[in-house]
This record gives sequence, C-alpha cells and structure tokens, in this order.
Amino acid sequence: MTRSRLRGTGSALPAKVVTNAELAERVDTSDEWIVERTGIRQRYIAGEGETTASLAIEASRSALDDAGMDASEIDLIVLATATPDNTFPATATKVQDALGCNGGIAFDVAAVCSGFLYAVATADSMLKTGMAKRALVIGAETFSRILNWEDRTTCVLFGDGAGAIVLEREDTSDNENAAGIIATRLHADGAQHDLLYVDGGPSTTQTVGHLRMRGPEVFRHAVVNLTSVLNEVLEDAGVSAEDIDWVVPHQANARILDATARKLRIPAERIVVTVDQHANTSAASVPLALDTARRDGRIKAGDLIMLEAMGGGFTWGACLMRV
Ligand code: ACO
Repeated sequence: MTRSRLRGTGSALPAKVVTNAELAERVDTSDEWIVERTGIRQRYIAGEGETTASLAIEASRSALDDAGMDASEIDLIVLATATPDNTFPATATKVQDALGCNGGIAFDVAAVCSGFLYAVATADSMLKTGMAKRALVIGAETFSRILNWEDRTTCVLFGDGAGAIVLEREDTSDNENAAGIIATRLHADGAQHDLLYVDGGPSTTQTVGHLRMRGPEVFRHAVVNLTSVLNEVLEDAGVSAEDIDWVVPHQANARILDATARKLRIPAERIVVTVDQHANTSAASVPLALDTARRDGRIKAGDLIMLEAMGGGFTWGACLMRV
C-alpha cells in the first residue's frame, strides 16, 4: 500500500493589512456588523508587484524549506486558483520556473474555494498511480482583484494569500495507522453555478469581471454540503468525529464553521480558525490555516486531521489525513 504523506507546509501573505474600520471608510459598513456576521477582523490585500504567482512562489519556498527538500526533487505542481496571473499559461508553470524545477508536471485547477481540496485529491491520485513521486500542492489567490469595492455585501468578506504543502508517495506496508492521506471525497453541483460566480471571462465578456454572490443561499448550502461530505469521509475511513484531532476548514465565515461543527458534534476547540485574521482567501484558505496551526504547534506529528471546503460551482470536498 502507498500513501501520500505530508512533508511540509508553507504560506505567504501580502504586506498590507486592511482592517474592518478601514473598509468602513470606503463602504457603508462597520467593524461590528462584519465581526458579528462573519468573524472577520482584518484581511491582507495584495499591493503593486504582488500577484497570485508571487504569493504562490513564496509559500512554496517556505513549504520546501519546512520539508527539508530541494525544488529539484519536485516532479508535480498542482496549483488551485480562481485568480490566475494570466488566462494562460497556468500559474503553476510560473511557480515551476521560479523554483527552477522545470520538466515535471505543472498545471492549475479551478474549483474556487474548494480548489485546494480538488488539487490535493488530484495530486494524491497521481502520486498513487506512480505518475510522480513528490508534489507541491498550492492554493493561491488575489481575490481583491475581482471584487467590486463598492459592493459592501461582498468586498468585506475576502482577502489575498497563498498556502502550499509538499506531498510524497511512501510505501506504508499495510500499516493502517501510517501517516498520509487516508480518504478523500469531492462533489460538484453545477445547478447552483449562478449563486456564486464572476460576471466576466475571456469567452463571454472579454473582461475579468466581478464576484457576485447570493450570500444567505450560499450559507445554507455550505452547512448542508459540508456536513454530508465530512460524514462520507468519516465512513470511508471507518473513524468517528471524536477520533479527529483537528478540523482545518475553509475559512469563509465563522458562523459556517460553528454550524458545521455543531452538526457533527465536534468541539470548537478542535477547529482551526483563521478567518478573523485572513478573511476568505478562497483556495488559499485551507493550506494557510494548516500552515498556521502546524507552525504554532497546535497540529503535531501523528494527529488525525480533516480538511474541508465548499465554494462556487458549487463544489465541495473533504480529506482525512494523518500528519
Ligand atoms: N455591512 C453592513 N450591512 C450589510 C453588509 C455590510 N458589509 N452586507 C450586507 N448588509 C446588510 C444587507 O444589506 C441587509 O440589509 P437589509 O436587511 O436592510 O436588506 C442586512 O445586512 C442582512 O443581509 P444578509 O445578506 O441577510 O446578511 P447575512 O446575515 O446572511 O450575512 C453574509 C451575509 C455574511 C454574506 C452571509 O450570508 C454569509 O456569510 N454567507 C456565506 C457566503 C460566503 O461565505 N461566501 C464565500 C464564498 S463561498 C464559501 O466560501 C463557502
């Protein structure tokens, strides 16, 4: 038996922090409203010269450093983003070139806020089938560039950033408790594509467009879909919610995290929450939260962790791994 084992994590944030109070100077909102409805207190916003690729490169270098690996050992890069530097080529190829590991496989995946889960599942499958041995899996976004900064219902919710992990295929010799990815489930329901979308694109308007969202509907679907996919993964792995040391959720809204945890009877102390600091960084949010909790010592070697996310499409997924 082989498993894709977590070797290292890294993250990167833009230099500039924007607080709720600063946003309230631009649109009709308040720190109190944003904190009460979302749990968000601040977000990082990319400045001149900071792009999805530059953040991804910094996060990748940090993950490689954490893994004690040289970039030349990486033969697969999967980068999740909805805000690529260019329509093409894939931002992953820019990362590959900057790291100096050209020649392997490199491509982007687009599943919006669930993108990192889709990227992890793709990399895991490719490692298990032997197409590659060591993968960099990245979630990187500059959502600030697709927001309508006059729309208070969306601009307060998002931020920019990147997170990266290194996965390595390892022979586990039938050891059920071996470290690595144990079970993953992904879903999509295209019937809901117009509840959360960007109103532009190369083939429609030839513009980049702005994010549009029916917030309360997204909220309801998120809680239902996340609860069901978490239960599926627990069942596939033959473990119960009590066995999980840490849930590392997509950081969309503190109320979605609370509601999902309550339904699964997972205590709040075992949920990694970074939404207050980073806001919703879409595909970057899960690896950013994972790196934060590993570096501050919450997540330790041997822990059983559950990653989960839901986003535009709708798309959603969850992944159980032993660290
Ligand atoms: N500041 C002040 N007032 C606001 C703001 C704001 N930033 N935004 C909306 N309001 C107002 C609305 O206009 C409305 O006013 P009205 O009653 O006079 O019409 C009132 O606040 C309530 O608006 P709702 O949309 O009903 O507020 P709700 O409690 O649902 O919170 C929110 C909105 C935060 C967007 C919530 O629905 C949500 O978090 N949904 C999930 C969306 C999400 O997380 N999307 C991210 C991408 S998908 C994902 O990652 C899962």
